[in-house]
Amino acid sequence: MEKLFSQNMQQSRIFKNQGVLLPEFTPTVLLHRENELREVAASLKPALKNLKPQNMLLFGPTGTGKTSSVKLVFSELKEYSNKIQCIYLNCWGYPTKQAVLSHIAEQLKETLPRRGLADDEIFHRIIERLKFEKKIAIIALDEIDRLMHKNEVDVLYDLSRADENHRQIFAIIGITNSPEIYHSLDDRIKSSLGFRDLEFRQYSPQQLKDILKERARESLIAGSYSEEVIALCAAHGAKHKGDARVAIETLLQSALKADSADKSKIEISDVRDVIDKTSGASLMKNTAFMGENELLLLEILKEAKKRGNDLTSGEIYEKFNDQKRKQKKEAVSERSILSYLQLFEASRLISTELSTNTKSGLGKTRIIKLIK
Ligand SMILES: Nc1ncnc2c1ncn2[C@@H]1O[C@H](COP(=O)(O)OP(=O)(O)O)[C@@H](O)[C@H]1O
Ligand SMILES: [Mg+2]
Repeated sequence: MEKLFSQNMQQSRIFKNQGVLLPEFTPTVLLHRENELREVAASLKPALKNLKPQNMLLFGPTGTGKTSSVKLVFSELKEYSNKIQCIYLNCWGYPTKQAVLSHIAEQLKETLPRRGLADDEIFHRIIERLKFEKKIAIIALDEIDRLMHKNEVDVLYDLSRADENHRQIFAIIGITNSPEIYHSLDDRIKSSLGFRDLEFRQYSPQQLKDILKERARESLIAGSYSEEVIALCAAHGAKHKGDARVAIETLLQSALKADSADKSKIEISDVRDVIDKTSGASLMKNTAFMGENELLLLEILKEAKKRGNDLTSGEIYEKFNDQKRKQKKEAVSERSILSYLQLFEASRLISTELSTNTKSGLGKTRIIKLIK
């Protein structure tokens, strides 16, 4: 009998660990970020002596390692002390004061009643919980620009003044891809936050090459790629403002292309094809290059659009995992869905807007719409 499954069962001759090239992978080694990592660590160091750390604002173009750096410092800090509570959140998914506070409370395992609480009450519970546990909280607010609406930005003020007002130490690490943000912050908040700036500069082509080589070593089979393949992917990233994400994504797509043609080597022509067909931001827009999760997400958004339904990220998350259940596949975390949606937004596949939560009448939610 013919070997029905031979094609599928065959081991890849390109990948040894594809996951290392996916956007959700968090590297444990960050090349060319030694200084930045040291600076972030130095600002937080007072927390180890139970003193107030310096607030920081990390800024620089996308794909320069800001998010990865903070996550790496947090994971090391966690090993060092259990009296420091590190909480990372991306304001894209939590764009309101209430959403930020609720998320912090949740991370502290503080259960909030379903009926919802006023912001002040949530804040009060956070303080009580941290005091009880004698912990300092370090809150990383990624894409902090998403929080810069008039009524929401107060949360920064509340957090940084908690020291004087409630004798509870918080530190804030803001992260933004837009350096203008700092200048648009109002003076009251600026002076009370005392942000120390830390710029992440774009990577040079050589730095991108080093980063890619390290990734390739972990994810691809030795001999399946050449120096030239790495150099071309790095050059493409360099063209996009030194964006490591673009460089890594180009390598991933090239590897997938070679793999699906059942080749044992990624060729220069594979990389060229990927670069020609797609360019930077539009990389994600090309459905030919989407993974199964992105495609399902797109399907859900199309269906909603056809019916004229507006969906919130929470509803999308539920629908998504309903489908996964039906397919008898593993559920996907809310964080992953948010990061797919962010990529969609960056690729201008979707638009988002804030709106008042019509169900609870409390707080605001983000409405997501397919463009076109
Ligand atoms: N120095 C580095 N070493 C290894 N990988 C990196 C480095 N800098 C960035 N990356 C990778 O590039 C991608 C983008 O990095 P990220 O930290 O999300 O950048 P930013 O937050 O500045 O947009 C991630 O996949 C990350 O793993
Ligand atoms: Mg980031």
